[in-house]
Amino acid sequence: MQRVLALLAVVAGIGPLPACGDGASVMKGQPESPLATAVVPAGYPAGTSLTLAPADNALTEPRARLGRRLFFDKQLSRTGEIACSSCHQPEHAFSEPAAVSTGVEGRTGSRNAPALVNQAWGRSFFWDGRATSLEEQAGKPIENPDEMDLPISEAVARVAADPSYAGEFEQAYGGPASEESLRKGIASFVRVLVSAASPYDRHLRGDDSDFGEAAQRGEAVFLSEKGACFHCHPAGPLTNEGFFNNGVYVDGADPGRQKITGRTGDLGKFKVPTLRNVAASAPYMHDGSLGTLEDVLDHYARGGNGGAFTDPTIEARPLSADERQDLLAFLRALTDPTFLADPRWAAGH
Ligand code: HEC
Ligand code: HEC
Repeated sequence: MQRVLALLAVVAGIGPLPACGDGASVMKGQPESPLATAVVPAGYPAGTSLTLAPADNALTEPRARLGRRLFFDKQLSRTGEIACSSCHQPEHAFSEPAAVSTGVEGRTGSRNAPALVNQAWGRSFFWDGRATSLEEQAGKPIENPDEMDLPISEAVARVAADPSYAGEFEQAYGGPASEESLRKGIASFVRVLVSAASPYDRHLRGDDSDFGEAAQRGEAVFLSEKGACFHCHPAGPLTNEGFFNNGVYVDGADPGRQKITGRTGDLGKFKVPTLRNVAASAPYMHDGSLGTLEDVLDHYARGGNGGAFTDPTIEARPLSADERQDLLAFLRALTDPTFLADPRWAAGH
């Protein structure tokens, strides 16, 4: 019943407040808004999705609301069949349960749809980091022939021809729909996808009531040289935002970051993803080649696929059965159920 009321509230335009009953810090003086959340996940650098938005696209309620509508709108694909949410599904932490994605007319790409979690803190986007802002990123899938396959000018024309959008664009950006306001609106919605209420968040704030001893032992393995995970997935954000070859690359496969920089040493490097909500976003890695978290631990324990450019940190690290169970308990404690089922975005799905 509560959920139904919450959904109705969103539809009526009065969504619930951001989840902040677990000690998450809400910045003083920020407008309280159902979409422009001011919650900071534990262990992140300073800043909220409000303060991290670029100056020319300040995060406001009407912008995030417009972006939400666009994110779930199939009109933005040539065939009217695919929305951003087709591949970025809220209940899978805005990823999808498939190795690679399927776009218009059943076309498949070659990469796994990443989870969209706490991207407001991201520095570059896509597995190879080829977009430097969420605004730049937002237009790419619309035009990508394997995804939505629609010239962005046509996407703008479609929403401009829909009278129900006119007021929303006007309110958000003070004018009719344009390529710029389309990109900015979508980026505003991605920026409010903040996950800050996992058992791990509470653990970092000193409350271990639902973190558990196995998760604590797993965290110790993760943060020590035994697991060595922290080198790339540091405590808090669980990503260093860098590009590394973690041994997934094999000769002749997707070159990753090298395609962007042209540097030999960047062969097989991919952006380190956050691990927050990772239990909800299988399969794993840029190519979706690892089906489960158990497979991921096997991969790291054997030191990856042995490619020439593998990072030196990735080496055979035998893990006992108990250590594996503990690492899995830790990774599962990164799940934030309120994020996965948040009525602010469940409604549009
Ligand atoms: C057909 C499936 C599909 C659709 C539709 C789609 N995406 Fe994606 N998305 C992907 C894949 C696959 C990647 C990774 C591509 C790459 O790295 O080259 C990605 C990457 C991203 C990233 C980068 C995440 C990161 O960690 O760097 C963002 C943000 C994103 N998509 C948002 C969107 C938005 C917004 C839309 C709608 C305008 C959208 N996507 C539509 C499949 C899709
Ligand atoms: C040298 C840096 C590095 C180290 C050390 C490292 N990782 Fe990663 N991790 C990455 C990179 C880079 C990716 C993405 C690779 C790709 O997409 O091919 C990744 C991906 C993952 C993923 C998949 C996430 C997703 O959304 O697909 C998981 C889970 C993961 N790492 C867990 C771990 C664990 C557990 C450890 C320690 C046992 C660890 N990592 C150690 C760099 C590292």
